[in-house]
Amino acid sequence: MLHLISVGLSKVKADAIFLPVCEDKMIYSKKEFISLIQEAKELKEFKGCKSDEVILYNLPEVRPKRVVFLGLGKFAEINPETFRSLIGSSIQRCIQKGFSNILFVAPDENILNHPIGLILEAMLEGGCLGNHIFDRYKKEKKHKPLQKISVLTAPDLVTKYRFLPARIKTICEGTLLARNWVSTPPNEKRPEQFSCEIADLARKKKLKVRVIQESELKKLKMNAMLAVAAGSESSARLVIMEHAPIGAKKTIVLVGKGVTFDSGGINLKPSGSLEDMKMDMAGAAAVAATLITIAKLGIKDKVIGVIPIVENMPSGNATRPGDIVTSYAGKTVEIGNTDAEGRLILIDAISYAIKKYKPETVIDLATLTGACVMALGEKIAGVFSPDDELANILISAGEKTFERCWRLPLPEDYKELIKSDWADIKNLASSRMGGAITAALFLSEFAEVSKWAHIDIAGPAFTQKGTAYCPKGGTGFGVRLLCEILK
Ligand code: BES
Ligand code: MN
Ligand code: ZN
Repeated sequence: MLHLISVGLSKVKADAIFLPVCEDKMIYSKKEFISLIQEAKELKEFKGCKSDEVILYNLPEVRPKRVVFLGLGKFAEINPETFRSLIGSSIQRCIQKGFSNILFVAPDENILNHPIGLILEAMLEGGCLGNHIFDRYKKEKKHKPLQKISVLTAPDLVTKYRFLPARIKTICEGTLLARNWVSTPPNEKRPEQFSCEIADLARKKKLKVRVIQESELKKLKMNAMLAVAAGSESSARLVIMEHAPIGAKKTIVLVGKGVTFDSGGINLKPSGSLEDMKMDMAGAAAVAATLITIAKLGIKDKVIGVIPIVENMPSGNATRPGDIVTSYAGKTVEIGNTDAEGRLILIDAISYAIKKYKPETVIDLATLTGACVMALGEKIAGVFSPDDELANILISAGEKTFERCWRLPLPEDYKELIKSDWADIKNLASSRMGGAITAALFLSEFAEVSKWAHIDIAGPAFTQKGTAYCPKGGTGFGVRLLCEILK
């Protein structure tokens, strides 16, 4: 499906060849490409500027019928993401056109200001991630993903990077798995079903999995988590996935928010805010898909996925604003708002994981607050950590994968805002301002471990319009990021 090859254009078989071109610099040294580009640039409409495109048909010495010239813009401004998105968007258009086999030409190793390994990686990623369709609920499947995507490069690089396509494919399949889960409608992934699906898939990959049922959660006194599930006809589940290779030195726990539908509960959300709340399990999807992926990659550290799964619904049994529950850690929590449910399920999962696994590091991923979307928009996640080193690792991994993370603070004095008159702490801050921060501070009261980070993915977990390499729906944000830091 995904290939790195070296072959002449007169011999290669493909529906189309794609040749990225800069407006102000030649990024190839092979004569074959230079003369093709000269020919394209003779046309008025093509200069190689960003989003310029021209197609030349039936060229002599080129076996495929079409050569598509794609403008990259200015040389100084191109980077791996330029290629990732250019290839991703091209693939999405190729799917529309019904192509099945296409070839991208990679730039020359020594001309770019970026390591060729990163460029090839980004090209392969853009190809794999753009080649995804979620049409499970369409009777007629109008389009098919491409069958073969190749990147053309020099023979020595094909040898040097011979394991790259398979690795990228494995990681991107993790992203696509998470996307599919997030895009699945909420009636088809209620906690019993979603937890079973995770467990079945994980067991196939030889991961150790345990699904803790609601009766057991009651015995464990996970009352904060159970308070969220109380209003639903569906019962809560805690999924534990273990990747425990022999000789592992460190233990890392990943926690993912799994609210399969967030109606807000008794603090019911208004229409307009409800329709996409199937995505509120994107943290869970990212963590589950990451564990399945790292098992395939053979990561050396011990990694535990802890995934609380509930549905947040209103009913006669639902938790009320004003209720007080005793969390797994023993602290009492006043529930000021039933729509601030993510933090309730996360604290029990985090406390349980720390007690049981004594990890060095805990990272949680959650579609936690609308405030984070207001602050950072739809494409950037908020990172909170008291540990500078861990925060920086995540931010660098975000730059590399382009799953961007921006650090936000955990100011001690803001803890004033989550004090309760009646209980030890309250799930709703006394001010609406700084909502992403007060949510993170609430978690920090339970994350008693030397290295903890919280990633608020409420913005980037889902795309309304679709992006260069992600169609509308779940984005799978977090899988590539986590694989990068774990590798
Ligand atoms: N799941 C939502 C956060 C969310 C909002 C995710 C928009 C994706 C897009 C979360 O459970 C929530 O409802 N948060 C409230 C908290 C408030 C009641 C303190 C919010 O952000 O408004
Ligand atoms: Mn909510
Ligand atoms: Zn929620």
